[in-house]
Amino acid sequence: MKPMTARTFSPNIKGTGLGLRACHYAHILKDLPDIPWFEVVTENYMVSGGMVLERLAQIRAHYPIVFHGVGLSIGGTTPLNAAYLSQLKGMVDRFEPAYVSDHLCWTSLDGQQSHELLPLPYTGEAIGHVVKRIRQVQDFLGQQILIENISNYLTYVDSTLPEWEFLNAIAEQADCFILLDINNIYVNAYNHRFNAMQYLHAINPERVKQYHLAGFLDCGTHLIDTHGAKISKPVLQLYETALQQIGNHPTCIEWDNNIPEFSILLREQQKINSVVASVFCEAI
Ligand SMILES: [Fe+2]
Repeated sequence: MKPMTARTFSPNIKGTGLGLRACHYAHILKDLPDIPWFEVVTENYMVSGGMVLERLAQIRAHYPIVFHGVGLSIGGTTPLNAAYLSQLKGMVDRFEPAYVSDHLCWTSLDGQQSHELLPLPYTGEAIGHVVKRIRQVQDFLGQQILIENISNYLTYVDSTLPEWEFLNAIAEQADCFILLDINNIYVNAYNHRFNAMQYLHAINPERVKQYHLAGFLDCGTHLIDTHGAKISKPVLQLYETALQQIGNHPTCIEWDNNIPEFSILLREQQKINSVVASVFCEAI
């Protein structure tokens, strides 16, 4: 079925944005730091009223935002949650994010929420299943969405495709876009012993519309995607290659654990801006 999406994808954001975290509300509203946009975890604001919605409205008055969800369960086998989708649509209408994204994973089963982003088997059957559900979401919202590659710590014996082929096929067939998490590629490549560069070379650049960067925990034998540290050197090098191969797209720094002072995030942002400038010879 052809998607009935009404809004053309034309994001009005660029540059390096930051994940919006509650501990920084006061600083942001007082100092209005020079950040081009914020990424908002949608579910944190799926409430009927109160202080958090008020803070989001105040911040939205000064900054563009994008919505980034963790609860869509686009790969799940239980029907899409109609109440969740209605609430999401209401928030999109109210806050007018530049776009909406969620993860290529499943999170719940029979109404039980795992609060984990769980991987899918990379098979043709799973592609068909996810494509159908993404089209349902896009038709309901009246706009295309972005899906993000996740970090994962297990693989399925039933998988018949590499992760990048699975992601490409879904984006193409669902006519959605990709939020490419560079840190997740690096973590998965290390843990599952594949070549991160091969992943980047294989991704369809026409489908990528945003990047994520974050820090991981190095446990020696494996890496854990903690979002609790500075962005590592090898991830920055991979990001540089992504900029060269795929193009310059809005990039968000995710930092969710051991959240530092805002000044540390600003320094990380400047580091990313320097990488972009070095690739594209732009004055930032
Ligand atoms: Fe991410």
